[in-house]
Amino acid sequence: MSNVRPESMERITTQALAEAFIAEQIDAIRAQVGDGKVLLALSGGVDSSVCAALLIRAIGQNLVCVHVNHGLLRKGEPEQVIKVFRDELGANLVYVDAVDRFLDKLAGVSDPEQKRKIIGAEFIRVFEEEARKLEGISFLGQGTIYPDITESVGVKAHHNVGGLPDDLKFELVEPVKLLYKDEVRVVGKALGLPDSMVYRQPFPGPGLGVRCVGAITRDRLEALREADAIVREEIGALPEVPWQYFCAIPDFQSTGIQYVDGKGQRHMGWAVVVRAVNTVDAVTATVPEIPFSVLCRIRDRIIKTVAGVNRVLWDISEKPVATIEFE
Ligand code: XMP
Repeated sequence: MSNVRPESMERITTQALAEAFIAEQIDAIRAQVGDGKVLLALSGGVDSSVCAALLIRAIGQNLVCVHVNHGLLRKGEPEQVIKVFRDELGANLVYVDAVDRFLDKLAGVSDPEQKRKIIGAEFIRVFEEEARKLEGISFLGQGTIYPDITESVGVKAHHNVGGLPDDLKFELVEPVKLLYKDEVRVVGKALGLPDSMVYRQPFPGPGLGVRCVGAITRDRLEALREADAIVREEIGALPEVPWQYFCAIPDFQSTGIQYVDGKGQRHMGWAVVVRAVNTVDAVTATVPEIPFSVLCRIRDRIIKTVAGVNRVLWDISEKPVATIEFE
């Protein structure tokens, strides 16, 4: 398949168009792969999930999905990948618990670029190890989409597994590479993937790693994951859902006070920052209005249930000058 989208290619906006695309791709995948085995890094993001679901339809057990849990995923994500792909779609799924490996490597590292490099490099290493354990792989599936090809400065560089050594440079199978994001979602729906996967907000490759500001510690990371789940639930239920909404946790502590039997007891705790933004292209971003009652509910739930957090902040900074992520 060429890397250029033909002008005649109709935009996939309906279930019927998606089904026609799926049928076409199933034939194309079978023609390319034959009886060969395809390996795919399945993050649980929209693109890799749709790519996996298409490949499962086309070649079933000859697709081997590898889901690497690097410890920086959001609450419930690895479980959802296993439920949808292994339990519901019957995928040949290898789940790799690499949490300790990643967090040990990241211990004490505070420079954001260094953190990104470690996460990217370790991901390739884990994936490579898994690939070496498998026999007879000759293709690598990838959820490349059209903007990844046309936009030279892709933020996805460390997502894909282009850094594999030469002997593992398999022929690529990229069934959604001519699709725009909205089309990938329509195809995902038609393939029966759940809305929570198909309409998932963008999530950076280094995951919560760039939201646990500075050197990551396990306790602060856990607090972030719990607080983030609350924010996603509350803001995700609004009639108009922002483009991205999440939490970050800075690496400072501030004073809190609790009254026990009328006596104030001081302690130190973390602050959680709630951020929601709207953007078209992630180059600039605005901050949507969130009802104050929703912010207060988020505050109450976080303070009551997330251990170690005693302060909730609302980030109203636009991009520029503040980037969407904290690091
Ligand atoms: P910033 O923070 O630069 O983010 O305003 C713009 C968009 O890019 C996402 N982002 C990343 N995505 N790996 C990714 O895959 C990264 O290292 C990364 N950093 C930022 C961010 O979530 C936002 O959507």
